Amino acid sequence: MDALIDAHNRRINYLRISVTDRCNLRCQYCMPKEGVSQFGHSEILTYEEILRIAQLAVKKGINKVRITGGEPLVRKDAVQLINQLSRLQGIEDLSMTTNGILLAEFAPALIQAGLKRVNISMDSLLPEKYRQITRGGELARVWAGIEAARAVGISPIKINVVAIAGFNDLEILNFARLTMHDPFQIRFIEFMPIGSFSEWRPEQCLPSEEIKRRIETHHPLVPVNSSTNGHEGPARLFKFPEAVGEIGFISPISDHFCNTCNRLRLTADGKLKTCLFSDEEVDMKFLLRSGCHDEELAKKLSEAISTKPLRHGFTGSGIKRCHRPMVKIGG
Ligand code: GTP
Ligand code: 5AD
Ligand code: SF4
Repeated sequence: MDALIDAHNRRINYLRISVTDRCNLRCQYCMPKEGVSQFGHSEILTYEEILRIAQLAVKKGINKVRITGGEPLVRKDAVQLINQLSRLQGIEDLSMTTNGILLAEFAPALIQAGLKRVNISMDSLLPEKYRQITRGGELARVWAGIEAARAVGISPIKINVVAIAGFNDLEILNFARLTMHDPFQIRFIEFMPIGSFSEWRPEQCLPSEEIKRRIETHHPLVPVNSSTNGHEGPARLFKFPEAVGEIGFISPISDHFCNTCNRLRLTADGKLKTCLFSDEEVDMKFLLRSGCHDEELAKKLSEAISTKPLRHGFTGSGIKRCHRPMVKIGG
């Protein structure tokens, strides 16, 4: 089968699979306080359906797969899905993005099932602030999850910090300093306007350059070549010269990485999204459930890729955003 190359000559090799839109937290930037409807049981893809799409995608050159949510570990038997995905010939990088709350419980089973690495969302180092942004989350459980992941050898461990001016900007240095003695990759992410409910305001978005500048006024940073650590991604990497860990900057707003975007997203309700900011979706669930052949599914996959936009339409004023909330996309 032909590879997945889009109309702008980008080779798509990375599939993000959201397995649920449920979450055990309610981060303020991701979900409204109340009233978000959840997909019903029959609306979400079964693991068999997910595997069928993943198998076809891998045949077409997908070699990186990330499991996302909501919170992926709240879906029953998530470990079993990891196990089945890890057996697919051709997947070189199998990872998960999680809020870490259930990681202490699942880390041993996850590594045994074949998960290579995790990215963990943690937006504050202060228990009370963490509780506030997540609407009730317990920071100690995330740390327990991080320790458990380390103990079983999950590596690298990347920690995602959505940088929000007026919320966690005073913690930037404390986050950066975590890399001094521990092998974490701390990644500061520019706050993006996703989902029609999100109360995103331009002044809340801290540009990566500003975060970097604030860190550098205390400690110098040296660049790390991201292609040498085997996990090229949207983060530009740096480190303190004497540090064990690394610091990454993900800048979808100030320095978007659309030109090199290699991703495709499959939502829990079976829609393919080729761009995080776009409302364009291709309904794979309908095809799967209407008894179509693999060839037709594969053709649809290629067609979806051919519509992948060259860049996101977000210009800085916050006008263009997709309506689907982040919790139903998976980041
Ligand atoms: P790695 O493979 O470890 O580099 O993972 P990742 O950074 O792709 O995944 P993760 O789930 O940790 O996402 C980190 C942040 O990057 C989240 O805020 C995502 O929403 C954002 N992000 C990931 N992919 C894209 C993308 O294609 N476009 C934009 N604008 N943001 C993205
Ligand atoms: N802007 C930037 N990052 C976000 N995330 C969720 N919503 C946003 C947003 N609006 C992050 C989460 C998680 C990752 C998948 O996406 O914190 O780490
Ligand atoms: Fe849950 Fe992640 Fe959304 Fe927070 S950002 S509510 S942890 S899905």
